[in-house]
Amino acid sequence: MNCIAGILLILLILSNKLRIVRINMKQQILIIGGTGMLGAPVTRRLCAEGNAVRILTRTPDAARKKFGAEYEIVAGDVQDRNSLAQAMQGCQGVHISLNDRAIPDLERRGVENIVQVAPRAGVQRITYLSGASVKQENCWYAGTATKFAAEQAIRASGIPYTIFKATFFMDALPRFVRGTRASVIGNQSKPWHWVAANDYAQMVARAYAEQKAVDQDVYVLGPQAFTLEQALKTYCALVQPNATVSRLPLWLADLMARAFGQKELANALPFFRYTEKVGENADAAAVNALGAPTTTLEQWCQRIGNE
Ligand SMILES: NC(=O)c1ccc[n+]([C@@H]2O[C@H](COP(=O)([O-])OP(=O)(O)OC[C@H]3O[C@@H](n4cnc5c(N)ncnc54)[C@H](OP(=O)(O)O)[C@@H]3O)[C@@H](O)[C@H]2O)c1
Repeated sequence: MNCIAGILLILLILSNKLRIVRINMKQQILIIGGTGMLGAPVTRRLCAEGNAVRILTRTPDAARKKFGAEYEIVAGDVQDRNSLAQAMQGCQGVHISLNDRAIPDLERRGVENIVQVAPRAGVQRITYLSGASVKQENCWYAGTATKFAAEQAIRASGIPYTIFKATFFMDALPRFVRGTRASVIGNQSKPWHWVAANDYAQMVARAYAEQKAVDQDVYVLGPQAFTLEQALKTYCALVQPNATVSRLPLWLADLMARAFGQKELANALPFFRYTEKVGENADAAAVNALGAPTTTLEQWCQRIGNE
């Protein structure tokens, strides 16, 4: 009996050691959402670090144009489990960076499908881009509820994970500009630690290389805090000097959206109500646990301005 217990103990120690070794090796990683604004920098970073990267996309031709021949691209949809199972074959890791404004609950449904298929495909690691304010008390907002449910599905899956809870990305600033107008909707008086997607991508790559990232929530915050209006003023001054920043009260934006049938504006209003009320909401204890982002807003703007 003692002998069997001893053998079991040795096997347990060995299996833990093997898990550490596997984590340190270069891996085959499937990127779901790899064509997106925040998925693409992660794709490029993981590839640059020597991992074999496979991008799952609904539009392979567009992805091929964007990434070129050196990236493996497969057709798939997170709503289709068969396509997920095929795409995951041979993958040790899956990175998820999903967004679809037309299907508000896509992240929950997509992630539930992913974690159902992943164990059979032999996936040993999931990394997921969530948001800093994703907490149960903020689930009155649909965008947070779907992310919260996705996080829960990942934690319950038993697959080792790292959840990235990111603040506002600097890379999203151009989305606030239409022509010569950069709009802040609502007061948006709360400051955010704006982060560069490239710094976050480095944290994701580190998560695949370091044992300490396993089963962790990592808050991703940049080095300086600015309100949306302050950040947009810096961005416009350095990158789009023709654009001017103006503020539109929420009630007026609502009125305009209704009066002029502006669907895009109407769809964006719940998001602005949410950010105005909730703010960044990060948990200080778990901030930047995989290395603090260093790129300042000015540095990022200068880089974008030179591209
Ligand atoms: N903007 C911020 O500051 C910020 C902060 C924190 C967190 N986030 C979160 O970051 C995530 C990614 O945002 P993003 O701006 O990078 O989004 P994005 O540019 O709109 O990209 C969305 C990605 O999702 C993929 N996708 C959509 N529906 C899909 C489906 N049914 N099956 C498979 N793939 C699908 C798209 O792939 P194809 O079109 O190629 O199929 C695309 O690559 C979002 O969840 C967002 O909430 C953003």
